[in-house]
Amino acid sequence: MLHLKPVLPKISLIATAVAATILLSGCGDDAAPTGTVTLKTAFNQSENNPQYKALVSFSDKLESATNGRYKLEIHPNELLGDQRASLELVQSGAIQMAVVANPLVENFNKNFSVLAMPYVYDNPEHQRKVFTSGALDSLFASTKGTGFEVITAYTAGARSVYTKGAAVTSPANMQGKKIRVMQSDTMIKMLSCMGGTGVPMGQGEVYSAIQQGVLDGAENNEITYADLKQYEVAPYFSATRHVMVADLLVANENFLAKMDEGDRELFRKLAKESTQTQFELWDKALDGARQTAKDNGATFTEVDIKPFQERCKPLQSAMLTTPEQKALYETIRELAE
Ligand code: GCU
Repeated sequence: MLHLKPVLPKISLIATAVAATILLSGCGDDAAPTGTVTLKTAFNQSENNPQYKALVSFSDKLESATNGRYKLEIHPNELLGDQRASLELVQSGAIQMAVVANPLVENFNKNFSVLAMPYVYDNPEHQRKVFTSGALDSLFASTKGTGFEVITAYTAGARSVYTKGAAVTSPANMQGKKIRVMQSDTMIKMLSCMGGTGVPMGQGEVYSAIQQGVLDGAENNEITYADLKQYEVAPYFSATRHVMVADLLVANENFLAKMDEGDRELFRKLAKESTQTQFELWDKALDGARQTAKDNGATFTEVDIKPFQERCKPLQSAMLTTPEQKALYETIRELAE
């Protein structure tokens, strides 16, 4: 039996119908492991996203390494609901995996917030080292008991502010600006430390909210900015690079427990390797995304990030309250060059 109990609260009726059809087709958590087991994987970005491509490569390698016993069935574009809904589906076992942004997992263990602190990573290479070093393994295992486990982390680059009207080059420019952030306390606080006002909202609503003037802009990486054509409504991209929020590949706990030990080890190993692949794909895709945005009228402005960093220092200290958070912060900083 499939457990469809966690209703998809935030998505449209059409999306709900599509999701229900997908969930009812093929095998679920209780299917007998004969033939190929397809691991339904929810993804909220498009097929162009380097994370999607890394998942495809992970699936191919897993299928070949397990002689066809396992492969992924990836559902992009929020087809299975937004990240909050997909995490619930993973917890219940209705699907096996999802990619969700780190702030969603902070609700289960506050220590995760260290992975999305403003300016905690110096650059992409530093973040890559942190994600591939094994330093996060015990943190990732800490959600066991809640229905899911974090398998690995993917980069979503550095987030910067983009607006309509004019570029934002200093905290003073940010004053009075309503900027969309992900649905998380940390992200709201981060926007205020930068001088503006953070408005929490799901990704799917951002374009029209800017268009209708509910927002002055948003903050995200260049790839999502270009892919969702947000340059059309907020053409001034200011490289504040204020935070590098991890995206996490999460898997249902029962599915992992039921896997044959050898297959589980292969699954874990190949998932971890997909992180390295994903960083490389991200790096290659960045210039193209910038160019697409520019070709469509976006202006990119370099920003002196020091004044933003200074203003965010108190937030950084306020975020490090438990000994575990402090230790994790130190571990991450030690991996900086
Ligand atoms: C990035 C990130 C997603 C997240 C999105 C957002 O694109 O990769 O996981 O959902 O930002 O701002 O909501």
